[in-house]
Amino acid sequence: MRPTVAPFPATRLRRNRRSAQLRGLVRETSLSVDDLIWPVFLMEGTNQSYDIPSMPGVQRLTIDRVVVAAKDAAALGIPAICLFPFIEQSVKTEDCAGAWDPDNLSNRATKAIRDAGIEIAVMTDIALDPYNINGHDGYVVDGEIVNDRTVDALVRMALAQAAAGADILGPSDMMDGRIGAMRQALEAEGYQNVSIMSYSAKYASAFYGPFRDAVGASGALKGDKNTYQMDPFNADEALRCVERDLAEGADMVMVKPGMPYLDIARAVKDTFRVPTYAYQVSGEYAMLTAAAQNGWLDGDKVMMESLAGFKRAGLDGILTYFAPRAARILNG
Ligand code: PBG
Repeated sequence: MRPTVAPFPATRLRRNRRSAQLRGLVRETSLSVDDLIWPVFLMEGTNQSYDIPSMPGVQRLTIDRVVVAAKDAAALGIPAICLFPFIEQSVKTEDCAGAWDPDNLSNRATKAIRDAGIEIAVMTDIALDPYNINGHDGYVVDGEIVNDRTVDALVRMALAQAAAGADILGPSDMMDGRIGAMRQALEAEGYQNVSIMSYSAKYASAFYGPFRDAVGASGALKGDKNTYQMDPFNADEALRCVERDLAEGADMVMVKPGMPYLDIARAVKDTFRVPTYAYQVSGEYAMLTAAAQNGWLDGDKVMMESLAGFKRAGLDGILTYFAPRAARILNG
C-alpha cells in the first residue's frame, strides 16, 4: 500500500538525490551494453567505407570492414549487430530476386561474421525495399502494394537469411500474415532455432529519411508507405499488431520509431510482458547528432538520456546507431 502523502517537511524528496551514491540506490532502471543492438550498413567492395551525409559518424562498410566492426562490437559486449545492405540501383528489379539470393550482400556478410567465429548475434532485415525498383517493401501491382504475393517473397528471403546463419530475423515490411508464414517455413526447413523479432508496431514515419539515403532507397521510392505502415495517430492498433504477431510466432517485438513512440513501448510492455525493443531510427540519430555538431546540445549526454528513456519505458533493448559510442561510455 502506498502511504498517504505526509506534508512538508516529511516529504523532502531531495533527500534521496543528495549524492551519487543515494541516487544510485534509488535508481529505478538501468542501461547496460546488453540492451544494445547495433544497426550497420553494408556495401560492395573491399576495404572501403562511405560516410552517410545525413548520419554523421555512420558509414556504409564493405564486408571485410563489417567483420572488423562486429569483432570490435563483440569486444565492447554488444550482443547483436543488425545488417542493412546498400543495393546499387542497377541491381534493383521488379521481381526483387536479389532479396533471396543466397549470395546477396547481406547473406555474404552474415556468413563472413559467422565464419570469423565472432561471438555476436546477427540480425537481418526482411523487406523488399532495397531490392525493389520502386523502393517499396512489397510488390507493386497497378499502384497497389500487394500483400500475399509479397509474403511469399519474404518467406524465401527469410529462409535464405536463416541458411546464411542469421540468429534473429527482423521482418520490417508490415505485410499481414508474414510472421506466421515465416515461422511455418522455418519449422519445415529445419530452422527451428532461428528467432523472429517482428517490427510489429512500425509507423509510417518521416524519421526514416536518412536511412533511406543510407540504403539507397530514397531515390527509388515512389509515393509513401501509408497503406502498410501504421498511422502515427494510432495507439490501440499497435497492440493488435503485437498480439497478432505473437500469436503467429514472433519471439520478440519492436516499436519503431523510438523517442516519439515511448507511450506505445510502455503499453506493449505492460500489456504483453514479452521481450520488447525500440528502434531509435536514423532521423532520431540525425537530429541529436546535428544539434550536437552545432554545439547546441551535449552529444554524449543527450545520447545517454535518450537511451535512459527507452529503459524507463520498460523496454528490453534498443536498436541504435549510437550502440558502440554508448557501450564505450557504459564500459567506462
Ligand atoms: C525498410 C526499413 C526502414 C528502416 C528499417 N527497415 C525504412 C522504411 O521503412 O522506409 C528504418 C530504419 C531507420 O530509419 O533507421 N523496410
